[in-house]
Amino acid sequence: MTNRFIPISKPSITEKEIAYGTEAIRSTWISSLGKYIDEFERKFAAFSDAKYGVALMNGTVAIQLALEAAGVKPGDEVIVPDLSFVATANAVLYIGARPVFVDIDPFNLCMDPDRIEEAITARTKAIIPVHLYGHPADMIRINGIAEKHNLLVIEDAAEAHGATINGKKVGSWGKCATFSFYGNKNITTGEGGMITTNDEDLHQRCKFLRDHAMSATKRYWHPERGYNFRMTNIQAAIGCAQLERIEEIMQAKQRIFNSYSKELKNSSILLNQTNSWATNAFWLMTARIKGLSEKNRDELITRLKQEGVDSRPFFYPMSSLPYLPDTSDTPVAFEIFKEGINLPTYVDLTDEDIHYVCKTLQNLTNSL
Ligand SMILES: Cc1ncc(COP(=O)(O)O)c(C=O)c1O
Repeated sequence: MTNRFIPISKPSITEKEIAYGTEAIRSTWISSLGKYIDEFERKFAAFSDAKYGVALMNGTVAIQLALEAAGVKPGDEVIVPDLSFVATANAVLYIGARPVFVDIDPFNLCMDPDRIEEAITARTKAIIPVHLYGHPADMIRINGIAEKHNLLVIEDAAEAHGATINGKKVGSWGKCATFSFYGNKNITTGEGGMITTNDEDLHQRCKFLRDHAMSATKRYWHPERGYNFRMTNIQAAIGCAQLERIEEIMQAKQRIFNSYSKELKNSSILLNQTNSWATNAFWLMTARIKGLSEKNRDELITRLKQEGVDSRPFFYPMSSLPYLPDTSDTPVAFEIFKEGINLPTYVDLTDEDIHYVCKTLQNLTNSL
């Protein structure tokens, strides 16, 4: 046992976030109106190479709203990668549509474009590629397939702020993209989310539905059912501060990856792999230990914790969850989820911490 504890993630909060958040509170604009909302939407959209942003309560409702605003209807099918956080599939269920799972690419862990066409049926309406653990999905190939079959594409970019494909950021590769600003994300607003898009009509429709679908010209007239999915000005203030630091945060993530790579270069542990056409936002370090069983992986996580190192398992394939359809054939996701854990990845993590994590991990994997 040790007194040391290295968490898996920790937000980077400086005097800037405290100053902007405090300013929002002092201004009394603490609800969902106020200058920071517009500023955060504008600046985050620009950062993500998109024209418009709609700030929301979290990244899950961002997917739900994007699907609804883009016209996905109950009974439609939406193709999603089997390996993702469950929010991707839940958002599809919330609008009464059906998630259809496809397998992942074992290199970058994102949706495998080669497996999409076999999942398309007459009911397929949309594809949601997920930029998993910070690596962008192959949007160029996915968009090609979507175009051929007349399908909508919504990027789930919850984990990949600032990642790029051929030099262009994630955020406007599809009809729209969705982001999360949960406390463990590359930038955070506590809870929070955003839809980014280049489509003016979609932007307006998302803003309308976010605010109970209230008529812009007739107050308290609601021509249809909407939601309260608004973000608060306090959250947006924190987001603006984080956004001013996003380059620093992304550089820290790259440094962390470089240090892990150096420490583990002579081991059999496989870290995040990045395609030549991509840059990785390195939301979380991924460590894969070939051939690991689920039982050994869980034991590894427990023993790492005993040594003061927090980690977490990869997501379960969503098709393995009891309430989700499991008609899919996704052997790669089922193979890889067992052998993967995420390691501590946050701005304040020192090279000495990384050295300790890697030494501990190597010792424990050797003794499994
Ligand atoms: C891939 C993915 N999609 C969606 C979400 C949902 O975001 P939130 O937690 O902000 O609702 C998350 C994360 O937390 C995620 O990792």
